Amino acid sequence: MGKIIAVASQKGGVGKTTTAINLSACLAVKGKKVLVIDSDPQASLSFGLGIRRNGEKIKGLYEYYTERAELEEVLIECIDNLFVIPTRIDLFMAELEVFETEEREKKLRVLLEPCREIFDYIFIDCPPSFSFLTLCALVAADSVIIPVQCEQFALEALRIFIKLLWRIKGNFNESLELEGILLTMFSKHITLSRTTAEDIRKVFRTKTFETVIPRNIALAESSIHGIPAIFYAPEAAGTIAYKELALEFLKSNP
Ligand SMILES: Nc1ncnc2c1ncn2[C@@H]1O[C@H](COP(=O)(O)OP(=O)(O)O)[C@@H](O)[C@H]1O
Ligand SMILES: [Mg+2]
Repeated sequence: MGKIIAVASQKGGVGKTTTAINLSACLAVKGKKVLVIDSDPQASLSFGLGIRRNGEKIKGLYEYYTERAELEEVLIECIDNLFVIPTRIDLFMAELEVFETEEREKKLRVLLEPCREIFDYIFIDCPPSFSFLTLCALVAADSVIIPVQCEQFALEALRIFIKLLWRIKGNFNESLELEGILLTMFSKHITLSRTTAEDIRKVFRTKTFETVIPRNIALAESSIHGIPAIFYAPEAAGTIAYKELALEFLKSNP
């Protein structure tokens, strides 16, 4: 049975999409069968995995959510073992259309049931907000990875998000777990980066990944080129960190 993991935070620019892409790619390279779902209408994950429209209209998460396409029609294999359900800006419309249906918050959970038979891990890249799409992802998920950029107010924002998670667990999805808090864009020479990381570890010691993702331009460049960092810059510090994260993830999710 495949596990569904949401990569989520109400904050933008903290490394959710970069984590979804690179953790998925590193697990795929290790031979796991992985699906990653772009559930942010901004479509950064789709672009970061090299999915460009090329004039033709590709079907994606909007069509799947609204039952205009079957699973096989929306899956794209990016690299060996790594599949994506891409998205476009029209995913906003799914929010409106699905919102009017019964058991709306369970929609994605139900749609992803068949994927559990096919994939070892299914990652959902969430938008940077407490939106309906985030709710659907958290209702579908077994666990959540929360990327945290080591900056001012990170701990406060994290506390708010975790409160929301427990609410969703209490009301909609009792099996939801915190997979881990991931410190991202860490700069060891910046005091604020170090103190924020220490503060978060103090409060969430057992729930913070050992692996820390450093600030590393190769990660940003690889997304621009639409290639996971493990292929674009295999020796870069950021790539090595995501490979370590994959190993750490596999230890608790063999
Ligand atoms: N560790 C990192 N080092 C340098 N740049 C990064 C790193 N992680 C992400 N970025 C860049 O920062 C920006 C925001 O990251 P992204 O993953 O899109 O965040 P989110 O999905 O949370 O909004 C992107 O331009 C991305 O390429
Ligand atoms: Mg994103």
